[in-house]
Amino acid sequence: MEAKPCKLSRCVKANIVLPPDTQHHHTLFGGRLMQLIDEVAVLSATRHARRPCVTASTDSVDFLSPVRVGDSICLVAYVTWTSRTSMEVFIRSTAEDLMTGERRIAAVSFQTLVAVDEAGKPVPVPGVIPETEEEEYLFKTAPNRAISRRVHRTETKELIDTLTEINTNHLDVNEQLYGVVTG
Ligand SMILES: CC(C)(COP(=O)(O)OP(=O)(O)OC[C@H]1O[C@@H](n2cnc3c(N)ncnc32)[C@H](O)[C@@H]1OP(=O)(O)O)[C@@H](O)C(=O)NCCC(=O)NCCS
Repeated sequence: MEAKPCKLSRCVKANIVLPPDTQHHHTLFGGRLMQLIDEVAVLSATRHARRPCVTASTDSVDFLSPVRVGDSICLVAYVTWTSRTSMEVFIRSTAEDLMTGERRIAAVSFQTLVAVDEAGKPVPVPGVIPETEEEEYLFKTAPNRAISRRVHRTETKELIDTLTEINTNHLDVNEQLYGVVTG
């Protein structure tokens, strides 16, 4: 499978921040920004793989500055690195005060997406060719981030196994609906 330059998966998504996107401080909800991040990451990964893609994980999202109602929020995403079936997507979210033109980075984040077939089974993806200095930097540092994710995934599996053992009746409907442990 032929590797593709990062620029082919580059996606730009700009939105104006409206009142329903904000909380009582009149700044953008973190959850709304995470939704936008996920949407643009899926677009970018799908452009790279030309396959349906699902989000496997989100690294920590650092919210660096508040985004006010009436500002624009512009997300730029591209695939920085791939393994066999997974792709790392970098997303930079920039806020702009539309009255003054002042811009600031609101958040940076990485998502891991996996290309899947019709049955939801992971399938191989093309490699990545970094071209710019930023792309080279993100490509070079990606294997270390992938190792951290693998460690985190193992820890999550251990946590789930432990919780399942502790809560032997974890599928009890009453507990799920009302927080009531029976039996
Ligand atoms: C993501 C998913 C397809 C992985 O399937 P799986 O059967 O666990 O497959 P594998 O263990 O072979 O993993 C496939 C690839 O995903 C990567 N991966 C899986 N879970 C991961 C995680 N939590 N973080 C980072 N990478 C992950 C693996 O490292 C592997 O990468 P590689 O092939 O490039 O080496 C599957 O877990 C899934 O469908 N999850 C739900 C996705 C979804 O619904 N997302 C929306 C959330 S609302």
